[in-house]
Amino acid sequence: MGCCCGNNGNGCTHNTYKITVIPGDGIGKEVMEAALHVLNASGIEFDYTFADAGDEYAEKTGVALPQETIDAVKKSQACLFGAVGESAADVIVKLRKELDLYVNLRPVHSYGKAGKFGDVDFVIVRENTEGLYSGHEEYTDEGATALRITTRSATRRICDFAFDYAKKTGRSKVTAVHKANVLKKTDGIFKEVFYQTAEKYDDIESNDFYVDATAMYLVTRPQDFDVIVTSNLFGDILSDEGAGIVGGLGLLPSANIGDKNGVFEPVHGSAPDIAGKGIANPSAMILSTVLMLEYLGEPDEARKVEKALVETIDEGKIVTSDLGGSSSTMEMAEEVARKLSKL
Ligand code: NAI
Ligand code: MG
Repeated sequence: MGCCCGNNGNGCTHNTYKITVIPGDGIGKEVMEAALHVLNASGIEFDYTFADAGDEYAEKTGVALPQETIDAVKKSQACLFGAVGESAADVIVKLRKELDLYVNLRPVHSYGKAGKFGDVDFVIVRENTEGLYSGHEEYTDEGATALRITTRSATRRICDFAFDYAKKTGRSKVTAVHKANVLKKTDGIFKEVFYQTAEKYDDIESNDFYVDATAMYLVTRPQDFDVIVTSNLFGDILSDEGAGIVGGLGLLPSANIGDKNGVFEPVHGSAPDIAGKGIANPSAMILSTVLMLEYLGEPDEARKVEKALVETIDEGKIVTSDLGGSSSTMEMAEEVARKLSKL
């Protein structure tokens, strides 16, 4: 198949990217179809490998995340992931650990009039491999116990990433979020390593808050935040709060990044309450493809996809019901694709 620029093999500068696609369950499948429709209107060629994972696959086979899917992700240049249901811990949490995708980057950005908090633009950098999601949970005679793991090395690399990211993207402040007054050892180390890292970046401001206070500050003064770096569970909770601030889970993308692989997924899950109705907002999945395009080194194309989506949201005519419209998932994606093909 020739390249979009018509110059394949003859001065063509476009790569064909090998992408693993894991649609998953519920609205994961619906928003994936929508996002691929948009990507197909971009100026980039993709070679997709579709892979299985999730509740439906587990019902058929007894396995939620087959080894072939892990291998496919390892072999591709990036992975797009929709959402899974109750098997999330066995699929996405496992994939993050297996591939050592230690960064979970979650930009919280207000688009259109969906949010009630004005212009908001901060990024949550969530540690993705340990903390309370380390997978060590067991029943005891009394009930159950979960192990909260904080290593200096994992804390250092996530803090390094947060400050590097701030520097690269022109952001001026990094805030550590923890609960070191109670979790004195695990979060004591998180805070200590954070400030050691901050010393290397004297042009970037650093401060820290407890997670409970942060939950309030996010809704009283969200504009004060720039980059937040935090542990696994706190990052999970605060990013859904961030979604609420900018207008809902249908708007928040994420990037799981390691040294070798990247997996790009909306923050939301399979949303069984709206699955099958064709009304899920595809924006979070489309914005996840924007993060993937940046990761692949295609910033111009990333900006175009984002622009087409933002114009669609700002016009407010062909948008899903959570954004005040009455269009379906695919109608909104078709509008974004139409706008993209004209850019
Ligand atoms: P959820 O994110 O699926 O839904 C929460 C609420 O947000 C629901 O009311 C839903 O309708 C709404 N919502 C989510 N995405 C939307 C979209 N694109 N457009 C419009 N509205 C949207 O979280 P919930 O209900 O807590 O979990 C449902 C299932 O998803 C569970 O089985 C859970 O384990 C799984 N899950 C999977 C994740 C993943 O695959 N990464 C992440 C979070 C949850
Ligand atoms: Mg979550």
